[in-house]
Formats: sequence, C-alpha cells, structure tokens
Amino acid sequence: SAAEKGGYEHFMAKEIMEQPEAIRKTISPRIQDGRVVLDDLALTARDVAEMDKLCVIACGSSYHVGMNAKYILEKLLRKPVEVTLASEFRYCDPIVTEHTLALVISQSGETIDTLAAMREAKRLGAKVLSIVNVVGSTIARESDGVLYTWAGPEIAVATTKAYSTQLAVIYLIGLYCAQLLGSIPQDEYDGILSELQAIPDKMEEILENRSDIQYFASIYFNHPSMFFIGRNLDYAVGLEGSLKLKEISYIHSEAYAAGELKHGTISLIEPGTLVVALAGYGALFEKTMSNVVEVKSRGADVLGLTTHSRAAEMAKTADHVISVPDTHPLLLPSLEVVPMQLLAYYVALQRGCDIDKPRNLAKSVTVE
Ligand code: G6P
Repeated sequence: SAAEKGGYEHFMAKEIMEQPEAIRKTISPRIQDGRVVLDDLALTARDVAEMDKLCVIACGSSYHVGMNAKYILEKLLRKPVEVTLASEFRYCDPIVTEHTLALVISQSGETIDTLAAMREAKRLGAKVLSIVNVVGSTIARESDGVLYTWAGPEIAVATTKAYSTQLAVIYLIGLYCAQLLGSIPQDEYDGILSELQAIPDKMEEILENRSDIQYFASIYFNHPSMFFIGRNLDYAVGLEGSLKLKEISYIHSEAYAAGELKHGTISLIEPGTLVVALAGYGALFEKTMSNVVEVKSRGADVLGLTTHSRAAEMAKTADHVISVPDTHPLLLPSLEVVPMQLLAYYVALQRGCDIDKPRNLAKSVTVE
C-alpha cells in the first residue's frame, strides 16, 4: 500500500530516500570520542598485523561493494584485497591461510553461493567476518564476527540502502584496522572519519536535487544501450550503476574500466550511444576525460558524473553533468552511487517497468 511505501510510488524510491538515515544508524553507534570502535569483532592488533590478505566474497551488488572495498582497504591498510564472486570462490580452490580474513558481504545473509563460499573459507582456516543486514540470518550466525548494517528491511529487489550501509561498514573496518596497524597518519584518519560522518548530509543534498536526474532520465530513457566508464573507485561505482539500470529498466548496459575501452568496447560506440562517464576521483580526472573525448569523437552522448569542483571543467566536453558534493576521494562512492540509483529508477519509471519486482529476479537467491 501507499502507506507502507511511506507515500512513495515504489519501495525502491522510499529506500533510496532512507539512505542518509540508514547510514547514520549504521555508523554512529560505532564512532566514539573521535574513533571507530568495533571491539566486539575480537580482532587484535596482532591479528591485523599478521593478516596476509583479505578475501572479499559476495554476489551481485554486494560484490560491487567488494569492488569498492578493494580500492579502499588496499589504500588504508596496504594489504592485498582479493574480491571474488561467491559462485566462483566455491570452485576455484582458493588460496586461504589461517592468517586470511574472509570478508563476506550479504544483505539477506541467506544467498546460497555466498554461504557455501563462506563455509569453504572457514574450512580452509580463514577467520570470517560478515557484513549482513538481516539479523540472525544464516551467514550472520555462522561467521566468527558480524557487523550488521542497520538499513532496516529492504523490500525492493534492486538494493539501494543495503549497498550504501555495506559501504559505510567498509569504511569503519578500514579505519578500525588502519588504527590497529598504524598504517595511516592520525590527521588522515581524522579527516576520513569526519568526512564519513558528513556523508548523510551530503547525500541529502543529492536527494533534494533528484529532479535534475529525473530530467536526464527523460532525455535518455529510450536509448537502446548504455555504457558506464570510470577508473578506480569510479569504475566500481559504474559497475553498480550499470547493474541497477539493467536490472530494473531492461536496457542493455555494460560497465568498463575507462582505460580498457579501446581494447574492445569502443567498437560499439556510435552516434547516439549513451556513455555515463564517472570522473569524481580527482587524481584520475584527466585520464577519464581523455576517454570521454574519445567516445565523444565517435558520436556518443555523454552524461558525466563528477564533484561540484570539477563540474564546469567536465561540462566543456560532456553533454550533461551531474555533480555531487566534494569529499575525501575514498568516500566518493557513497555519494556517486546515489545519482546512479536515481538514474536507473527514473529511466525504469519512464519505461513503465515493474520497478520493485523486475522480471526473472529474486531478492534473495537461496538455490544454486
Ligand atoms: C540477488 C539480488 C541482488 C543482490 C544479490 C546478493 O541477486 O537481486 O540485489 O545483490 O542477490 O544478495 P545478498 O543478499 O547476498 O546481498
């Protein structure tokens, strides 16, 4: 009913709008006196120091959070992070030792491939830490430690607030372990933590301006195919933007690391192809813009995504630009994903799709 949907037309819209609050609920109990406190994890400084690598295991959008986690945690901890799809991890004879930390990400806590992969990691001796939304679910119960995302029930098949809160937990884990390791200077720690706490308010600013994205959706909703390009964290967010779009709008889309375009996908760019170019990550802005120039010269329409400080620069080349507030570079995915969710939502709305229950998809996949 409309009441259940909080006055919104779809659960997906309600859940997109709930994200700032969901992040506040997820992070605030775990930040005390200017530091991240995850003492219930029972990870000692020695455990973290001896850690040989982190193995992130997940499916779907949770896997995309893992793709972000690789860039974030490797930067903060200088430890190797391998991200593997659960359905692959199960059968790839993974290299895991008793010094490996398996980080299992799942909204439902019941995805069968993720559960089986987690059991395999455990059998091989890894310590298993899970990030789960559904309290008391199987993955939560079977892991050595669980960090719940306090997103509340997520009804729409396409995840939004679970993704955002999973990502918030990645920052908490990164900061917590960085402090145990002493792998980043204190001022950098303080800067990232205060930017993390500012994310909900910055997200609210993006959500207040959602009609801009609805306008872009009204221009592009009939495009037969879309490409999402970006580098580093922008690439990880592009993967999620592309998945959201195809899940609910049924438009063919692909996400590509921008530098990889010329090794194949550029052959598909022709006049009228829509390219969503993510270029929030300042250190690689110029590199991604050079790819934007390449697709523009082949006739693509380019919808750019960057931060407010680079919007004018990007608008010189892109047809339209969406901008999000500036933040610490590692935190950009938390902001960039919101316009990607809104774009998918409004495109699907324009196309008259069954947004909360897209064809062939299930909220939780409990059979292999
Ligand atoms: C299904 C859902 C996706 C979700 C994936 C993993 O395919 O449709 O939205 O990302 O499962 O689910 P999990 O509950 O393990 O995060």
